[in-house]
Amino acid sequence: MIRIALTKGRIEEKTLSILEKAGYDCSDVRNKGRKLLLSIGDNIEVVLSKSADVITYIEHGVCDIGIVGKDTIMEHGKTFYELLDLGFGKCRFALAGLKGKNFYDGYSHKVIASKYPTVTKNYFNSRGIDVEVVKIEGSVELAPLLGLADAIVDIVETGSTLKENGLEVYEDIANVSARLIVNVASIKLKREEINEFIDRVSAQIEK
Ligand code: PRP
Repeated sequence: MIRIALTKGRIEEKTLSILEKAGYDCSDVRNKGRKLLLSIGDNIEVVLSKSADVITYIEHGVCDIGIVGKDTIMEHGKTFYELLDLGFGKCRFALAGLKGKNFYDGYSHKVIASKYPTVTKNYFNSRGIDVEVVKIEGSVELAPLLGLADAIVDIVETGSTLKENGLEVYEDIANVSARLIVNVASIKLKREEINEFIDRVSAQIEK
């Protein structure tokens, strides 16, 4: 038996269509109601959860395979194997702020607002720049508009949220998409089942 932790929402929907194309019966998941532990076929259990919890389940070994965004992996991930880029949920991390402003102007240290404080700190550390990071839970784009921050680090997909709020990308930080991760012990103990699952899924990924 293998157990898969699947991120609820957009990733869930795309993953289910890939699994169905790969021949897995996802009717239990599609008709889940309020049920949280579901099955696809005889040997595979699926848990639906928030993205950060997917990482927790994989690191604690209570699930073998996780499907989660690279953004969450970069913010919360530590020890597991990242084996597959699923090719959907594509977007990027970017540094953004008020349009037309030069971010590096002036000598004062910069304040950056983000839902992703670790990603933000790692990015500026790697460039040897000291910044203050303010953690925001949603609508981070408000921070430069309210004067709370000099810039934000956030996910940009179409760019329309930035545009509609008079903001622009200053720098691209990293590409993001949905990834398949595996617990380090599971890869040894359940090699055959995990490889079969990964082979069937990767055959359905749009290149
Ligand atoms: C994300 C992100 C941006 C927006 C970018 O937010 O934080 O706000 O999407 O998308 P765009 O470039 O296509 O406009 P999300 O929709 O996940 O909502 P949240 O702010 O509540 O997290």
